[in-house]
Amino acid sequence: MLEAAGAALAAIHFGVPLAYYLYLRRAWLRRPWGLRRDPGYTPRVVVVVPTYNEADLIERKLDDIYRQDYPREKLEVVVVDSASTDGTPEKARRWASKHPDLKVRLVEEPARRGKAHALNTALKHIPPDAEVVILTDADSFWPQRDTVRRAVAYLADPTVGAVSCLKKPAGQGPGGVEEAYRSLYNQVRLAESKAHSTPIFHGELAAYRKSLLEEIGGFPEDLGADDSHTATLIALKGRRAITPEDVWCTELVPRKGYTRWRIRRAQHLTQHFQKILKTSHKTPSQLKRILAVEAYLHLANPWLLPAAAALLALAAAHKSPSAIILLALAAALLAYKPYRTWITTQLYLTAAMIRNLHTKE
Ligand code: GDD
Ligand code: MN
Repeated sequence: MLEAAGAALAAIHFGVPLAYYLYLRRAWLRRPWGLRRDPGYTPRVVVVVPTYNEADLIERKLDDIYRQDYPREKLEVVVVDSASTDGTPEKARRWASKHPDLKVRLVEEPARRGKAHALNTALKHIPPDAEVVILTDADSFWPQRDTVRRAVAYLADPTVGAVSCLKKPAGQGPGGVEEAYRSLYNQVRLAESKAHSTPIFHGELAAYRKSLLEEIGGFPEDLGADDSHTATLIALKGRRAITPEDVWCTELVPRKGYTRWRIRRAQHLTQHFQKILKTSHKTPSQLKRILAVEAYLHLANPWLLPAAAALLALAAAHKSPSAIILLALAAALLAYKPYRTWITTQLYLTAAMIRNLHTKE
């Protein structure tokens, strides 16, 4: 009995995401976009870099933006710093004075009130004729010289409201876990984007139509996933929020504090989905399905794993041969990287939900 219940929970835990992935692959992954993408579209773009103690990276980050092949008179950078104590603003100012051909504006907040707050401050300093706002974290890089052009090309289609990137990991977490996770994960982002929108955006590059940012009232300051949440609010307004296959970005994966970093990320995502569940809207049905499955996968499905393990362990303790076999199989599969990656991600999500109960950080 115990072993049957445990096996059923495990079957749901692995079966639902697998079925979703197979459905996305078969129905959407290879479909054409059906969008009027225009590579020659060059609206006025403002790139916003939020910084808190990024002195080690800010010059490299500005160099990276500087390398972009985009009309100089249509590109502007806003660095918004929140009282860094390591000299970040001074470094940004010095960099700007050495590169007078790129317009760089430095906005300084007197105190640190979080990334989203800083982004809202930056919005107030964006010229009225800017059409597109691109957010990018200081610890992220754009491997293509035409990243901005590629992202913006999709915004030429009026049905698209927001564009993010697919992630190429740079630097490695323990055992290459991060890398394995990203490729399956990228396929899901891409297929969801083709179906309508993906509810997960990336801080490495998030491009928004400025008018839509104003319409939704700027960035949410009450939760961590400003990028994903903003994109989803735009999707809920009926404009698409997409991660195309030709826009890539990289992020420096921290070598130290990897587990804490993953849990903090997972906290942001679970906060985002919890809030989306509470927001009722007239949602296009394709989007509704994506949001429902992703909310289930992030908030409920992870718990089935420890529940199944506990039931099977209990049954094994009562010498159930089938429970012992299942547990041995589950343990043996840990040698297989994608499976191991999945299991650790589930554990991060459950840890994140527990941690969200006492700190939202
Ligand atoms: N101005 C300002 N003020 N900037 C800040 C603050 C702040 O209080 N806190 C963080 N930042 C800046 C950092 O300097 C960096 O450039 C960027 O915001 C992201 O901070 P990280 O510390 O690198 O965040 P993360 O890597 O854990 O999370 C990022 O990715 C997530 C998922 O893609 C962030 O972009 C999250 O918002 C995002 O959900
Ligand atoms: Mn980061």
